[in-house]
Amino acid sequence: MGNIRNIVVLTGAGISAESGIQTFRASDGLWEDHRIEDVATPEAYQRDPDMVHRFYDARRAAVQTKSPNAAHEALAYLEGAWPGEFLLVTQNVDDLHERAGSKQLIHMHGELAQAWCTLCDQRHPWATPLIDYPPCPSCASPYSLRPDIVWFGEMPYRMDEIYDALARCDLFVSIGTSGNVYPAAGFVREARSHGARTLELNMEPSEGSAWFTESRQGPATQLVPQWVHQILGF
Ligand code: OAD
Repeated sequence: MGNIRNIVVLTGAGISAESGIQTFRASDGLWEDHRIEDVATPEAYQRDPDMVHRFYDARRAAVQTKSPNAAHEALAYLEGAWPGEFLLVTQNVDDLHERAGSKQLIHMHGELAQAWCTLCDQRHPWATPLIDYPPCPSCASPYSLRPDIVWFGEMPYRMDEIYDALARCDLFVSIGTSGNVYPAAGFVREARSHGARTLELNMEPSEGSAWFTESRQGPATQLVPQWVHQILGF
């Protein structure tokens, strides 16, 4: 892997699967008979906020009982050891990357561990349920805190920074994502259009597998540490 200076890594639910967090499109893809697309929308929240809160409260509580795995840890290690630019973009709303030690990290789909006040626009670290409609710690308004999650139809966070990094990177690596959800699914083509090499590490070929220079199949806890050793020249 010669001539690589800047790296962008994109992760999805597959990197947290071996920590015991269910992926989105595994098995029947349903939650209490709802499709994920029906829970994760502003319309669903308007129609039935209790249901949406129950879904995210359950996921927030579940994540708190899980730990980062060897793949999260390998990426944090790489960031610390890499002499060039390194950016980790995750679609995941869990906090396993930061708990593993990653610093240059963008949660493009938001964070379970954060609540957003739709009235005063403040964001707050959040570890407890939202279904009881606690008041916003900043403006004291009840009923205004929602999970700080980007729902279908909403704009992912910090896209300008992500596209800047994709334009500058020499290597784009996609890990544990099915390639079903845009704009993340389009990052491989964006990076390629600027001349980057592209590598996919996933349990199975993703929707966009053909766009990658190289695609490796297997569990993230094996493939990611292997790749990190390889790129650091161990
Ligand atoms: P998906 O559930 O769609 O895809 C997970 C991918 O990880 C699949 O391709 C699996 O084959 C792969 N996989 C599973 N276990 C793995 C393992 N141990 N090692 C490596 N790969 C493994 O999840 P995402 O692509 O992340 O959006 O889904 C994208 C977005 O859709 C999510 O961020 C979420 C969802 O709706 C929002 O919440 C806004």
